[in-house]
Amino acid sequence: MSGGAVFAPARVNLIGEHTDYSGGLVLPVAIDLGTTVTWQPLDGLVRVRSLAFGDAVEIGADGSGAAPGWGRYVAAVVVLLHEHGRLSVGIDAVVSSTVPIGSGLSSSAALTVSLALALCRAASFELDPLDLARLMQAAERRAAGVPCGLMDPACVLLARRGHALLLDCGSEEYRHVRLPAGIAIVAIDSGVRHALEHSGYAERRAEVERGEPRRLRHVASENERVRRVVSALEDGGLDALGPLFRAGHDSLRDDFEVSTPELDLLVDLAYEHGALAARMTGGGFGGSIVALADAAGADALAAAIVAVYHERTGREGRFFVCESVDGAAARP
Ligand code: GLA
Repeated sequence: MSGGAVFAPARVNLIGEHTDYSGGLVLPVAIDLGTTVTWQPLDGLVRVRSLAFGDAVEIGADGSGAAPGWGRYVAAVVVLLHEHGRLSVGIDAVVSSTVPIGSGLSSSAALTVSLALALCRAASFELDPLDLARLMQAAERRAAGVPCGLMDPACVLLARRGHALLLDCGSEEYRHVRLPAGIAIVAIDSGVRHALEHSGYAERRAEVERGEPRRLRHVASENERVRRVVSALEDGGLDALGPLFRAGHDSLRDDFEVSTPELDLLVDLAYEHGALAARMTGGGFGGSIVALADAAGADALAAAIVAVYHERTGREGRFFVCESVDGAAARP
């Protein structure tokens, strides 16, 4: 093995939020932001240098040894792959990423999946993409203590360019839903990173498991919205998307209580500026919104939203007019 490079994309979720860990429906899209791992073989060790953090971690190729900070992700991936039969082949790797960390665009799944694929290739080891996705779900939990669902690693691995991924997180059946031509997917990062992100997420999951009525009402209504969004995309009824995304956002704000005033403002501004549809995306407690807009005017629309957002809050929002891309498993 002479080394190589692996790219894993980030994702935006179109709809189906906080539904994955109770076996519901999700509809994410892999986007052209992502994480690249460039690697060379190395004897007995996994050494990973991060261009974002500027430091390196080093552990045994079987996952032995401790790695603090972001290195916990590296250790979790190496240990779990080792437990699932990957031979202890080392790599010397450099990680670079265009995904803003903590923006709700799944920077951590892009990291774990790109690392995992590099480690698998170095050891000529292959896992079915859904098995690998489940393993990376476990890696997130092990590294960060977040009891997340399957959506992010599944999307990062299984997505298809020009499509959203409709995944039933209960049966794990999936199919690709074609995205309409001429519509851009815009992610706008609120720049807010809440300390509650991890504990709040775990609390919501526990509340769903305990059967709290308002939380369950969100999950049930959200699953129905995913079905309707898929129908609208497939039947060309794009006018339905605005009210469905609006209802999804309101449900996350009022019934699920994971939105923030900044996300609420960005969503309102998106509709006021003529977006076809907009809602918060990802786990919430900060992070990003997703908006759908006419491709021709998407840059101007997003720039206008971010400018008003800055005027009203003093915060620097950042926007990305995204291309949909293939998941990492589709690459050679
Ligand atoms: C985070 C988690 C996902 C999912 C979303 C909310 O992104 O990693 O598993 O639960 O939040 O939909």
